[in-house]
Order: sequence, then structure tokens, then C-alpha cells
Amino acid sequence: MRTVLAVTNVKGGVGKTTSAVYLAAAAVRSGRGPVALVDSDPQASSAEWLERSPIDGVRLVEAPTARLLSRAMEAAAERLVVVDSPPGDEKTVRTALEHADVVVIPTRVGGPEPSRVRATIELLPAGTRRGLVICAARTGTRDLEETLSGWEEEGEAIWGVVPERVAIASGADAPLSVVGLVHYENVLLQALDRSRRRAQA
Ligand SMILES: Nc1ncnc2c1ncn2[C@@H]1O[C@H](COP(=O)(O)OP(=O)(O)O)[C@@H](O)[C@H]1O
Ligand SMILES: [Mg+2]
Repeated sequence: MRTVLAVTNVKGGVGKTTSAVYLAAAAVRSGRGPVALVDSDPQASSAEWLERSPIDGVRLVEAPTARLLSRAMEAAAERLVVVDSPPGDEKTVRTALEHADVVVIPTRVGGPEPSRVRATIELLPAGTRRGLVICAARTGTRDLEETLSGWEEEGEAIWGVVPERVAIASGADAPLSVVGLVHYENVLLQALDRSRRRAQA
């Protein structure tokens, strides 16, 4: 069965591209490939990343408009399709969400972040399975603990807390971080588990 996983947040700079690339790499690494990584952001950050540092088993598809994105998602035959989405373009974001079996919402610790996550959740078709990933987290800080308990009170699932790491921040300039891969593999397992349960329901 094919799974379409959209990585979405209406806000930029939260960790969408990083999460999409690491989720794709973690899938291949754990024997869940092949993977299509569909970059629907006109900024092409994940496309540039993979051009500089290709990942075996991950096919890159550039689809910077809603129309190209629909086409790319329908055409992709890989077992897993990961979609990196742009921050602003609501039409493209909606297209990604409509095709998604499961949605990963990267976010961060800090003031304006929850309202952008809620705005993203409002775009999800009813019943879409979703989980949050806290990116570049400073583990052991009170801010992080407050963020986690805030989401728990709102009933939002946290599928991962990825620590802030120089190797992750280096993007395509460094080999993928093993710590990052381990965290994102765990996120992937939870996303696939939720999407399966939706398929069975
Ligand atoms: N776990 C992490 N540790 C350190 N830096 C991170 C981590 N996750 C993301 N970043 C950095 O945060 C910035 C924004 O991430 P990016 O994936 O480009 O976000 P978006 O695609 O949402 O705009 C980038 O500089 C990226 O390297
Ligand atoms: Mg991006």
C-alpha cells in the first residue's frame, strides 16, 4: 500500500524541509522505501538539498504549483510519498493536504508558534490523522516542557521532539545526523501507524 505523508505548516522556518528530507531518508534506512520526495515549495529547498546530497532510494520530484503537485502525487508509484510544502501558498498547501493519508506538522517552541499550528490544522480535511514534531528543541528547558504540556492539554499528538543539533542545521553541507535519523524514524513509525488505522477504519 502506498502512503502519502504531507509535511506542512503555514509558517516558514519551522523545520518542514528538514523534516521532509529526514523522514524520506529514515524511511529508506529502515527498509520502508522506495520513497518519492515531492518538493512543492517554489523555493525548492529540498530539491536543492537532494541535488547536492542525493539519498539512495529517494526520488526527487519538483512540483511547485498546485496543479503540478496533484499530478506528481497521483503519478508517484513509490511505497512512500513525502511532500514538502511551501509556507504561504494556501492553494498548494490544501492540495497537499487533500492527497495526504497522514500529516506531520513541524513546529517549534515559542510564542507565535501555536497559532500557526492551529491555522494549519484548520486547513486539514476532517478526520485527517496528524501529529506534531517539535523541531530544534532545547531538551530539558522549561519552555519546551510548557510547550509539550500545552499541546497535551489541547489534545494534539506529539510524534517527535527533535533536539537542536549543528549537524541537522548544516543541511546538505553535512552527512545526515544519526541522532536526527533516529528521531525521524520514530516520527515515521507513528505516522505510518496512524495512517494504517485510518485505512482500516
Ligand atoms: N533539529 C534541528 N536542529 C538544528 N537546526 C534545525 C533543526 N531542524 C531544523 N533546523 C534549522 O531550522 C531552519 C529552518 O528549517 P527548515 O527545514 O528550512 O524549515 P521550513 O522548511 O519550515 O522553512 C533551518 O536552518 C534548519 O537547518
Ligand atoms: Mg522549506
